[in-house]
Amino acid sequence: MEKNSVNIGIAGFGTVATGLTKLILGNSEIIYRRLGKKIKIKTILVKDINKKRDFLPPESVKFTDKIDDIVNDPEIEIVVELIGGTTVARELIKKSILAKKHVVTANKAVLAEYGNELFQLARLQNTALYFEASVGGGIPIIQTLKENLSGNQIISLTGILNGTANFILSKMSQEKLPFEQALKIAQDRGYAEADPTLDIEGIDAAHKLIILIMLAYGKNYPLDKLTIEGISKTDPYDIKMAEEFGYTIKLIAKVKYRGGDLQAGVYPVLIPKKHILAKVDGPFNAILIEGNGVGPIMLYGQGAGDLPTGSAVLSDIMSIIRSTSYNNTGFYSDNIEEASILEDKYTSCCHYFRFQVEDRPGVLAILAGIMGERNISIAQVVQRQEKIGKYVPVVFLTHRAQIKNIKDAIEEIDKLSFVMPGTKHYRILN
Ligand SMILES: NC(=O)c1ccc[n+]([C@@H]2O[C@H](COP(=O)([O-])OP(=O)(O)OC[C@H]3O[C@@H](n4cnc5c(N)ncnc54)[C@H](OP(=O)(O)O)[C@@H]3O)[C@@H](O)[C@H]2O)c1
Repeated sequence: MEKNSVNIGIAGFGTVATGLTKLILGNSEIIYRRLGKKIKIKTILVKDINKKRDFLPPESVKFTDKIDDIVNDPEIEIVVELIGGTTVARELIKKSILAKKHVVTANKAVLAEYGNELFQLARLQNTALYFEASVGGGIPIIQTLKENLSGNQIISLTGILNGTANFILSKMSQEKLPFEQALKIAQDRGYAEADPTLDIEGIDAAHKLIILIMLAYGKNYPLDKLTIEGISKTDPYDIKMAEEFGYTIKLIAKVKYRGGDLQAGVYPVLIPKKHILAKVDGPFNAILIEGNGVGPIMLYGQGAGDLPTGSAVLSDIMSIIRSTSYNNTGFYSDNIEEASILEDKYTSCCHYFRFQVEDRPGVLAILAGIMGERNISIAQVVQRQEKIGKYVPVVFLTHRAQIKNIKDAIEEIDKLSFVMPGTKHYRILN
């Protein structure tokens, strides 16, 4: 090993790994001036070493399909995990830490599911496990929470964390497209995977939210306790109605802190058009953080892509090379305890509903009565003569109401003989 260089091994040579390699090669002078050392890619682990690749690193870099060629190489100091998923990636991260290597990963799924285990192992071995690229791609959100805002109580954190879902909703809104057509465009442009489930059902955003909660509060918020609603049932009619009321629909990931308890979820919401998050369109990501010292701040940028994500991974590699001690989660102990969760029934917000009802006298009064019995106070009602079969849409915007009451009311209303089941409901961001 050259004295003024650090050897790294990269696991995976897909989108992010090629972006990282291009930056390490193309920005080598800047990197050297900042570190006084070169970053040398020694080995790249892939699934298929015979695969034809558009971009290749210099010939000195060895390609392998054996994990041990990276994990057991004493010259490799830093392992960069860019495979994805939770099986091989988890095994590679564990083996690397046990071999006393520092690890950088962009993998939100493995950290959301096995973060506690991996961070504790890294703490025991005194190695770094850094993950700037795991949330928000190129946006430096991890370091911001770990360091820059570390003296604040974070009161809330609201993010548009999935570029694919945001692109689809933007297309549906701007070009008045149905969901399936907008999804197809996202797939054709390479924003959405062939199997887009993780993105459109909110799971990817949920993984990222779990990581942000860990960084902001030092707590583990289990995936099965998060409210997770995706965008696959979003109807263009509701996007149109929301616009008429002055809102836009976005998939958000949100956590609120109330007196020691947390409440978090991923769901589509109506956002007032003048709200800063309403302006985040297409594949972009943004995170709005409210700290009790700093007040509100927002980070905005490209949430995915080879070079933006590679830039975040590179920043982790450089931080490790500079550091002599490793703080992985930003908390004194890397043991992340389970969060105390505030139940839904104790929180409230304004709501949007669309009922499909038979057009006959007295219907609105019955709906309003059921809501009134549950302390749901109506702010606006619009009834349209746009019939679908024998039903017409009725849209209600409510004042603040508790989510439990809202769910109970929808359940009761959907059972009425003159209502078509499947009432559409969205929270309104306030
Ligand atoms: N793409 C983005 O913009 C982005 C943004 C933020 C975070 N991330 C995260 O970054 C990670 C990598 O994403 P990516 O988009 O770069 O993935 P990708 O393009 O699908 O590349 C995955 C790479 O891993 C290799 N691989 C897969 N299974 C393997 C195995 N069993 N053993 C060895 N190598 C294996 C593949 O090898 P072959 O080349 O031989 O098939 C491929 O090179 C994921 O965790 C992802 O969530 C991605």
